[in-house]
Amino acid sequence: MKINILTTYCALVMLLFMGCNTKQKHKMNTQTDHIGQKVDSLLRIMTLEEKIGQMNQYNGFWNVTGPSPEGGDAALKYKHLEAGLVGSMLNVRGAAEVRAVQEIAVEKTRLGIPLIIGFDVIHGYKTLTPIPLAESASWDLEAIKTSAKNAAIEASAEGINWTFAPMVDISRDARWGRVMEGAGEDPFLGSRIAEARVKGFQGDDLSQYNTIAACAKHFAGYGFSEAGRDYNTVDVGTSTLHNIIFPPFKAATDAGVRTFMNSFNELNGIPATGNTFLQREILKKDWGFNGFIVSDWGSMREMIAHGHAVDNEHAAELSLKAGSDMDMESYAYIRHLVKLVKDGKIDEALINDAAGRILRVKYELGLFDDPYKYCDLDREKDIVGNKDLHDGALDMAKKSIVLLKNENQLLPLKKQGLNIAVIGDLANDKTSPLGSWRIAAEDGTAISVLEGLGNYPNNNITYASGPKLYKGIPDFTTEVDINTTDKSGFNEAVNAAKNKDVVLMVLGEHGFQSGEGRSRTNLELPGFQQELLEAVYKVNKNVVLVLMNGRPLAINWADQNIPSIVEAWQLGTQSGHAIAQVLYGDYNPSGKLPMTFPKNIGQIPIYYNYKNTGRPSPSDHDANTVFWSHYGDVGNEPLYEFGYGLSYTTFKYENMKLSSNAFKPDGTLEVSFTLTNTGNYEGKEVVQMYIRDLFASSTRPVKELKGFELVNLKPGASKTVSFTIDSKTLEFYSANNKWEAEPGDFKVFIGGSSNTVLEADFSLSSN
Ligand code: NOJ
Repeated sequence: MKINILTTYCALVMLLFMGCNTKQKHKMNTQTDHIGQKVDSLLRIMTLEEKIGQMNQYNGFWNVTGPSPEGGDAALKYKHLEAGLVGSMLNVRGAAEVRAVQEIAVEKTRLGIPLIIGFDVIHGYKTLTPIPLAESASWDLEAIKTSAKNAAIEASAEGINWTFAPMVDISRDARWGRVMEGAGEDPFLGSRIAEARVKGFQGDDLSQYNTIAACAKHFAGYGFSEAGRDYNTVDVGTSTLHNIIFPPFKAATDAGVRTFMNSFNELNGIPATGNTFLQREILKKDWGFNGFIVSDWGSMREMIAHGHAVDNEHAAELSLKAGSDMDMESYAYIRHLVKLVKDGKIDEALINDAAGRILRVKYELGLFDDPYKYCDLDREKDIVGNKDLHDGALDMAKKSIVLLKNENQLLPLKKQGLNIAVIGDLANDKTSPLGSWRIAAEDGTAISVLEGLGNYPNNNITYASGPKLYKGIPDFTTEVDINTTDKSGFNEAVNAAKNKDVVLMVLGEHGFQSGEGRSRTNLELPGFQQELLEAVYKVNKNVVLVLMNGRPLAINWADQNIPSIVEAWQLGTQSGHAIAQVLYGDYNPSGKLPMTFPKNIGQIPIYYNYKNTGRPSPSDHDANTVFWSHYGDVGNEPLYEFGYGLSYTTFKYENMKLSSNAFKPDGTLEVSFTLTNTGNYEGKEVVQMYIRDLFASSTRPVKELKGFELVNLKPGASKTVSFTIDSKTLEFYSANNKWEAEPGDFKVFIGGSSNTVLEADFSLSSN
């Protein structure tokens, strides 16, 4: 690295600082923000243009993850890089490629400020772990943390030091394709998973070469887009915003997440990127967040289409005033901020604050000490795709599988002597199981189900794909062309199912049918798959349905007819091995659904923590009338509730006890019960505790998850499990516009899903 003005200047400032007398020095050591001092010194020698440059992020030269803006050609990007007018790049990857752009920033610009390099490391990097929704089904926080840590290890070896993850948007609408990227519908589970992912990516020391900055996104409300259509309008009330949408973002902040991304949607009339309430009031002021906020791709400019900004200059002004610190691909800051300051429309203090936040994170990453520490070609060779990463991906994949049905114990399969038909295009697919958001992974790198089954050679497998699920080769940027015309292979598949001991049908969605821009109005099995399932079932009832999908599906018919159903999501690189190990019982599944499965699309939004309404059931009124909250054609119950999932063993819950039936605001309450493994296999159970606040200033849901634990038991073994409730557990955003626990009556529920089996009453006294 050249010795430039920056190095010399900062050394001088540090010398002056070290010259303080000891007493004063001690005081400053305990109270002073050293990085803040470095940032301030640096800002003092930066020109306005250089500071604005830090707030400018450009996409790289190959992959795009959004619509390309006008005038953003490579020549301009290089010119701006050399002029010190770029603070960050995304979608540049590989140690050599990153080094090349970093060298420009460090060696060729006046101050040599390194770039921060962002990338969507959403579920693994090149070695893919299950899609985030699937990982969330594990409810295994340690495993999820390790998975994020492994992703950071691999991505950092390819030059990346910042991931645009975790996505912590709560969603209740499976039509929205991006549910695959989140932790499902519940704010409590979502918060715990947000913390685990942030800690996994960032580790204990962000300045290490193998940890990367995380980004909580999309702030806020994106998961509540109307009718599940991506980028659509969001209009939610205060209670939903604070009690459901905000908690995982707050949890990420408390876990030390260093960056946030705002969202494409408007929230109650104001686009998130230009939303002062969200960014300045809630995040930066109330929550004290001192990292930086990056806009989503082009979201500043999109405020023109929203009808909020009149042009890109206005968009820049609104965005900065509202607290967006870095511009991703809108070219709004780089083109207009200098003028806005000179015209007196923007106070330079806002620029200093935004640029300072970005520089702070760069210091924390240790980029000023060694800008090339993520660009080590030897490390890249050793790390990317190594065995440890594959072992980790397999472990996470097994933990993510949810057993939805297992009548007559068709599963686990015997390891020898069976004639098995494997049916479905997806069974032989080595790309779809990688899921969406996998830009760095190569097509064809997943272990297919057929390959996984190949590890159990003592059964006889006949494979028939049935009709091809899709046409052509689906990619990340275009719609998947689902085959609805070419039925060839249909009869052959039905014939293959005849006279077999078991039929494994691998059906679902292609990996690119969920993800950004992939909303669907129909959640049934696409193409000819449902017809094929029914035809096969007619000739052989011993069907095991293995589902691969990025969202809850409406599989009512399958639930009523097919004896065994395994939810295998999109499990990443090790997909087929994980599925085979579960089917053969080498791994006993313990996953639980993080999102409700509907009976049909008309039930959506459907979620377990609904409000009771004034007319919850016919029995409360006149049983013979229609005047209660229901549908005439389908019940209110879901197909599979939140928290649901089976095991090859069974569990019994009993002996629920409370330490007392009332407690004071400064006290606690202990809830205990006995869990027994009543089946024949060792297994893990996710025990869950829910509460209900019966009467409150602002109505509360019928159930709210407040605790869970993974308990492993050998057959016949029992364990006493306990949870502690304190007033913090009972807090919610009340009608007084603050988080508080209101004294009164509560219920506590225990069970292996949100359809709980034990319950008790207690109260919180006022003092
Ligand atoms: C748009 C997506 O909404 C966001 O999640 C992603 O991080 C950026 N594109 C960058 O790829």
